[in-house]
Amino acid sequence: MTDPSPAPLISLTWTDHVTGTKGYLVVDRLVRGVSSGGLRMREGCTLAEVTGLARGMSMKEALHYDADDARARYIPLGGAKGGIDCDPRDPRAYGVLVRYLRAVRPYVESVWTTGEDLGLSQDLVDRAAAEAGLVSTIQAVYPLLDDEAAARRRLADAFAVTVDGIGLDELVGGCGVAEAALVALDRAGLAPGDARVSVQGLGTMGGATARFLAGAGLTVVAVADVKGTIANPAGLDVEALLVARDAHGTVDRSVLREADRELPADAWLAADADVLVPAAVSYAVDAVNQASVRARWVVEAANMPVLPEAEALLARRGITVLPDVVVNSGTNAWWWWTLFGDVGADADEAFGHTRRAMRALVGRVLERADAEGIAPREAAHALVADRLPLMAERFGWYR
Ligand SMILES: NC(=O)c1ccc[n+]([C@@H]2O[C@H](COP(=O)([O-])OP(=O)(O)OC[C@H]3O[C@@H](n4cnc5c(N)ncnc54)[C@H](O)[C@@H]3O)[C@@H](O)[C@H]2O)c1
Repeated sequence: MTDPSPAPLISLTWTDHVTGTKGYLVVDRLVRGVSSGGLRMREGCTLAEVTGLARGMSMKEALHYDADDARARYIPLGGAKGGIDCDPRDPRAYGVLVRYLRAVRPYVESVWTTGEDLGLSQDLVDRAAAEAGLVSTIQAVYPLLDDEAAARRRLADAFAVTVDGIGLDELVGGCGVAEAALVALDRAGLAPGDARVSVQGLGTMGGATARFLAGAGLTVVAVADVKGTIANPAGLDVEALLVARDAHGTVDRSVLREADRELPADAWLAADADVLVPAAVSYAVDAVNQASVRARWVVEAANMPVLPEAEALLARRGITVLPDVVVNSGTNAWWWWTLFGDVGADADEAFGHTRRAMRALVGRVLERADAEGIAPREAAHALVADRLPLMAERFGWYR
């Protein structure tokens, strides 16, 4: 496997002086002095996890670099990630978040643009950032904008757009995940109406993915949240489940229909489905539990949900993993497409652009994988390895 960047540029550990909680920031690399990567909060979060995620962000950025597209205004950035080892439902969590942001403020001001990730909503991150004295969580990129005021207005307008009760910012990522799955189905000649899907996680990513795949005609046979799996071989009512979520993506079971079943936590993995979408936690599919996978594709909406040994064992059984760096890259790219002006504050425009970009990217990755007889993840890494040196040469690490 090609390793495009052996060591991160910045890697730091923060300790909260009030609770002793640990937090991490890893800047994998910079392009034009800036990096991009969300901030997650989960109990058990480690520096190694954040380092892997920061590396993944460099890849996601590079994968959306099209050297031949002269019209593109967004030039990809470097990759970074933040993580806080705390349960987001802990009553002390918000205070921890504010103190973490205060501590890393100089990085947010100068090199690290961030936003919501696992365990945190954008609203909460924005509120905590304001309390920590930040202008915005993406202010480091402002010096790269032609017209900062217009760009910020466009992004704010885009964040105000909702579609059937869900914010556009929470939908674009799942739109991209769904499109990646649809490309795989198309290439295999399986009609969406004949395909079944099981999703782990019904938060931002899982919820939106379930909505778009159901919209495309797939039958959603199982979804799992932190309380367990909800299944129905005849298909779940996705919209009813989405409405019944709390702020952490937990579904109120009182809305379940008679034929819906409550199953154990890992039942989503063994569901009789063509497509599995892990959209919750990292390391969800390991060398042991992969044996229960019956699907043909695992589409990684979450970051790092399939462990390498599991991926190798799945490949031996003819099960293809579409990798996270490709599949879930839509949210991050959409922020920049919108801010730099490649798309306006409009849902149809955003979904159309996301679909086109994801279709082209997944197609390129799968073609390379087929041509070279390698896994899609290796093909994606090979594309990244081609592009990173080119980007460094053209744009430089520092402005
Ligand atoms: N939010 C984004 O913009 C974004 C973008 C790219 C990738 N991701 C990745 O997608 C994944 C999910 O992020 P999110 O923002 O949707 O999170 P979220 O907090 O909005 O939702 C998480 C969901 O997973 C469920 N969950 C948590 N632990 C679980 C467990 N052990 N078993 C089953 N379900 C569990 C929760 O109940 C909830 O439904 C993460 O890996 C994140 O890094 C998120």
